[in-house]
Amino acid sequence: MAKDVRKQIERLREVIRQHDYCYYVLNQPKISDRQYDKLFAELKKLEAANPQLITPDSPTQRVSERPLEGFATVRHAVPMLSMDNTYNSDELRAFDERVKKQLGSQDYDYVIELKIDGLAISLRYEEGILTTAATRGNGEVGDDVTANVRTIRAVPLVLMDSGKIPAVLEVRGEVYMPTSSFVELNRLRAEAGEPPFANPRNAAAGSLKLLDARITAARNLSFFAYATGQVSEPLAANHYESLQRFKKLGLPVNPNIKKARDINEAIEICDSFSEKRSSLDYQIDGMVIKINRFDQRDILGATGRAPRWCISYKFAAEQAETVVESIDVQVGKSGILTPVANLTPVLLAGTTVKRASLHNFDELKRLGVGQGDTVVIEKAGEIIPQVIEVKSKATATVPVFKIPKTCPICGSAAVKDEEGVYIRCINRDCPGQLKERLKYFAGRGQMDIEHLGPALIDQLIENGLVENFADLYKLNEVQLAGLERMAEKSAANVIKAIEESKTRPLWRLIAALGIRHIGGQSAQILAEHFGSLGALMKAGEEELAEIDQIGPTMAKSIYEYFHDPENQSVIEKLLDAGVRPEQPKIQRSKKLAGKTIVVTGTLENFSRQQAEQAIRQAGGKSSSSVSKKTDFVLAGENPGSKLDKARKLGVEVIDEKQFMTMIQ
Ligand code: IVH
Repeated sequence: MAKDVRKQIERLREVIRQHDYCYYVLNQPKISDRQYDKLFAELKKLEAANPQLITPDSPTQRVSERPLEGFATVRHAVPMLSMDNTYNSDELRAFDERVKKQLGSQDYDYVIELKIDGLAISLRYEEGILTTAATRGNGEVGDDVTANVRTIRAVPLVLMDSGKIPAVLEVRGEVYMPTSSFVELNRLRAEAGEPPFANPRNAAAGSLKLLDARITAARNLSFFAYATGQVSEPLAANHYESLQRFKKLGLPVNPNIKKARDINEAIEICDSFSEKRSSLDYQIDGMVIKINRFDQRDILGATGRAPRWCISYKFAAEQAETVVESIDVQVGKSGILTPVANLTPVLLAGTTVKRASLHNFDELKRLGVGQGDTVVIEKAGEIIPQVIEVKSKATATVPVFKIPKTCPICGSAAVKDEEGVYIRCINRDCPGQLKERLKYFAGRGQMDIEHLGPALIDQLIENGLVENFADLYKLNEVQLAGLERMAEKSAANVIKAIEESKTRPLWRLIAALGIRHIGGQSAQILAEHFGSLGALMKAGEEELAEIDQIGPTMAKSIYEYFHDPENQSVIEKLLDAGVRPEQPKIQRSKKLAGKTIVVTGTLENFSRQQAEQAIRQAGGKSSSSVSKKTDFVLAGENPGSKLDKARKLGVEVIDEKQFMTMIQ
């Protein structure tokens, strides 16, 4: 009897695995979702009655019930490199020339794939069983996200027995969130009052880094395999065959993979895909061109950062067409009036776009945008959509949008500022400006006050509860609980979050004040330089201008800000209310003392800001242009012309790894 049950369970598992394969790998489901769910329920029932027969590779065991405390780290047996990018066919041809030169007289062919915009992951199978899944991390060491990856149905827990399975097989590929799942997830998040994810890649990354795999399981992530890491014996002699083997092992491979005999054919394939892009239910940001034969890849090798046998071909920013329903004027935190187009909602690069900035009134005039026009929009830096051009006018008679003479919020005069580009509301007590200043103050990059979102800030101002930053710290739960849609518990959460923000690092408070020209990075420089708000407030204009990377415009703005009696009074009130920013410990190491370093390209472990901070902390100076005085150029991925200049001037070029050793 027990033997029968064991057999029955095994058989059910096998059937379910087969259906997963048909669904995720072949993209040809053989049964309906309902029938599948029935099989699954049957297996679950049998396992519940016979818990001693449950094994970790059972399809029912994808989700671990216990959240992790944190992620362990995994050292990759073979480093996970990044890829060089190209943006046009000339650059692709130059890549091909380099390949040709290195391979001498050999013939070679390419494999062309989609560049999936998700997260790279390495899956380790030992004797055909998934043992570890790790993120790319810094390429050498990543996070162990096995529990979360196990919840992804497209990732087999056991490889299919297709003859011989290598004892060790590391499969690399991309975890992604289908666009439709992303749209649905953001809809649910909006309903729950949670902030939306900016794009499917962020959503996938966020979902994979959750400590509770039960939440990941509900996120509908998926996976495509596209490379191998460590393998005890190669699957094939070339990449194309290796991908065919992947499929036989039950691993999902993207169906849009093509061979090309030469670079011209490769370019043709790439171009044909840029049109197909919007019909896919996942985001791609370009194509990948790879040398097919593994022995030729070995000849070509890699630079420290990227292999020389592959290259990406990035698409131009994605565009969409839609109609301008109306044009609004928004007031920014320093009073700048910005025209904004309200659009007929349209899906662009994975998000629904309803509004687009028109930047300023000169730009609006240049574009000639009016109500009812059909326009082309594009995402700048993937986040903020903008209007690129007018595709067709609604009617010739729609009047051109008039530059406002008064602020749409407070009705005060609106005047052109000194630089002549912006129109500004001159009333500093304008409730529109105050709202934006408070939103910025509480925002993530500044005081980071959780739960104090735009809707609540609007209510606080409308109810006369807050007139300046300091008033936030005088709020109490009773006042908040009296507001619309504010439960007691939420009121308590807001008060707690405001309280917690009192001891934010000094640079955050400096940034939060919203001083013109002073963003997070300059705020960090100022905090480090002065060490206290008092010292910064007393600084003279000349003293400020002498600080590395501050300069005269910022110095003037800082000086004027702190010498304005109204600002002084708000700061005094902030301090009276108990805001005590944490003073930075100025502890400069001397590792880079006296050295000037220029950063170019994208780094793996540092944002530009962090790299510059690290340089300063090590006693060095970071500069934005290369000259003979530059000691090093730190070059990341896609370095710009600065790298060429460094080479020309004979300035030493270092990579990120060397940099990290230098500052340690
Ligand atoms: S091959 C280094 N193939 O692009 C070569 N990568 O910019 C091994 N990516 O980290 C990667 N689609 O996350 C390869 N078809 C594809 C890809 C792909 C997306 C990602 C991957 C990698 C990044 C490099």
